[in-house]
Amino acid sequence: MPPDRAALHVVALCGSLRGEESSTQRALRIAVQEMEANGATVDLIDLAELSLPFCESSDHTDDHPGVRALKERAAKADVFLLGTPEYHNSFSGVLKNALDLLSSEELRGKLFGLLGVGGGDMGAVTALGHLRYVVRGVGGWSLPAQVSIANAWKAFDGDRVKDPELEKRLRSFAKELVRFGRLYALEPKFEAGLLRVIDEDPAEE
Ligand SMILES: Cc1cc2nc3c(=O)[nH]c(=O)nc-3n(C[C@H](O)[C@H](O)[C@H](O)COP(=O)(O)O)c2cc1C
Repeated sequence: MPPDRAALHVVALCGSLRGEESSTQRALRIAVQEMEANGATVDLIDLAELSLPFCESSDHTDDHPGVRALKERAAKADVFLLGTPEYHNSFSGVLKNALDLLSSEELRGKLFGLLGVGGGDMGAVTALGHLRYVVRGVGGWSLPAQVSIANAWKAFDGDRVKDPELEKRLRSFAKELVRFGRLYALEPKFEAGLLRVIDEDPAEE
């Protein structure tokens, strides 16, 4: 049976608190458009709206309404898209705090796409490398492809990316995330079928 194209749900977390002005959020919004055009449902979470506490221990924070909302929304994800600005050669503390407030229940075994923006010529390559390490720490799988936007302050004209090549890269990254998300969602069924074939003993035939 072909996979249900509408069934893939992506949760995108924006690691900048600057709302609509944020280049991270602008890039995420374009990625969201592309993922929706490819049949995924997407929940773009603006962490500023949740007024999250600092992570302390789940005993202290799980009852916080913002944490409850974050956990409920994150639990629905088949795939995560993490967007971050580069801050002092790494990803934002806001994003790390949000990930720390979540647990393996919401994160483990899921696919992650990584996108970053930086004010300088180097973009967010270092931040994305660090984030990849954290994805490993939560038991997630990160898509090899990523998008790093350099000179973020001049990369956008309103909600539009100025450089058509960069826009193309951003959109094909978003499309690839949906594509691999679907393949990954099929994996348990595929594995079950494969094991049936492997377990067949040719001597019994
Ligand atoms: C605390 C802080 C540290 C930053 N450190 C870096 C950095 O190391 N490298 C860089 O390229 N840009 C750095 N920037 C610039 C941001 O990456 C840039 O302004 C980016 O657009 C912010 O993302 P936003 O527009 O989504 O909020 C820093 C900005 C702040 C506020």
